[in-house]
Amino acid sequence: MNLKELHQLGVKLGMKADLRGEAKVKKLLARKNKMYNDLPKSKQEKFDKTFLTNPYPDSLILNDTGKALKKIFVGIDIDVGDLLLARDLGADTVISHHPHGKGLLYLDSVMELQVDVLAHYGVPINIAQSLLKPRMSEVARSVRSRNMHRVADAAKLLNLNFVCLHTVCDNLVARYLYDLVEKNKKKLEYVSDVLELFAAVPEYRIGEDEYGFKLQLFAGSKQNYCGRVALTEITGGTEGSEKIYQYCAMAGIGTIVGMHMSEKHRDAAQAANVNSIIAEHMPSDSVGVNLFLDEVKKADKKLEIIPASGLIYYSRLKNKK
Ligand SMILES: [Fe+2]
Ligand SMILES: [Fe+2]
Repeated sequence: MNLKELHQLGVKLGMKADLRGEAKVKKLLARKNKMYNDLPKSKQEKFDKTFLTNPYPDSLILNDTGKALKKIFVGIDIDVGDLLLARDLGADTVISHHPHGKGLLYLDSVMELQVDVLAHYGVPINIAQSLLKPRMSEVARSVRSRNMHRVADAAKLLNLNFVCLHTVCDNLVARYLYDLVEKNKKKLEYVSDVLELFAAVPEYRIGEDEYGFKLQLFAGSKQNYCGRVALTEITGGTEGSEKIYQYCAMAGIGTIVGMHMSEKHRDAAQAANVNSIIAEHMPSDSVGVNLFLDEVKKADKKLEIIPASGLIYYSRLKNKK
């Protein structure tokens, strides 16, 4: 397998798992292509073609050495120290879950996904879109102050393959948890039932047993009815607008499950009477990365994986029931 094939596999899996549905993602890509084709030549030259084929611009190849992959070093966050460690351990390729380079620069673009996911749960689509827009531009501005190409520059100097797979993996965990909730929804009456269901996910179990993580209840109470359980905050770049919770409540969402939540968002969820379960950041990101790595292993059995930097590694291949 080479790096392009690994990245293409990620995008394919991300589209298949996308909570909007693969057909909708393809439709959005076609729409973007039409917009591009309608542009004057001068503007087409400036247009980043990534957007025409990849619906997840926060998931990008940042350095391709052209060498085939043998040993991949995989972390939730990668810094220059991790790259040096990867090289010392003999890795030829590094995967970062959190985005770098243009992947970080384009983080706001994947947030659009949240609009359709909220609409799926009954939030009026125009409200979801209007509330998200200012938050998207806030994110777009905030990333620009960062030294975003630093780690990718180091990967080039070290001659390491480097790729970030952000929304691609977040889509995998979102779909996995969505299916889990759908399969068990008849059993979910109280918030405590939801906590119990999620606690059985391997990464959450290992996270608690070995690393001190624990599913957190940020808003609401275990004894509350859970109502409809929504996976609106697992994928879609980063946190959306805190103004959304009142509309979530009106749409019939009783409990939101997320990876992390700011105090501002927590207060707003509490005020809107929406329970909020925070499944913790590293274990949740690990679920998505692990689901991806299992597919990589299926495609290339000889590939060696070095789990690092916060990744709670668990393979569902070896542990198939
Ligand atoms: Fe993530
Ligand atoms: Fe994350």
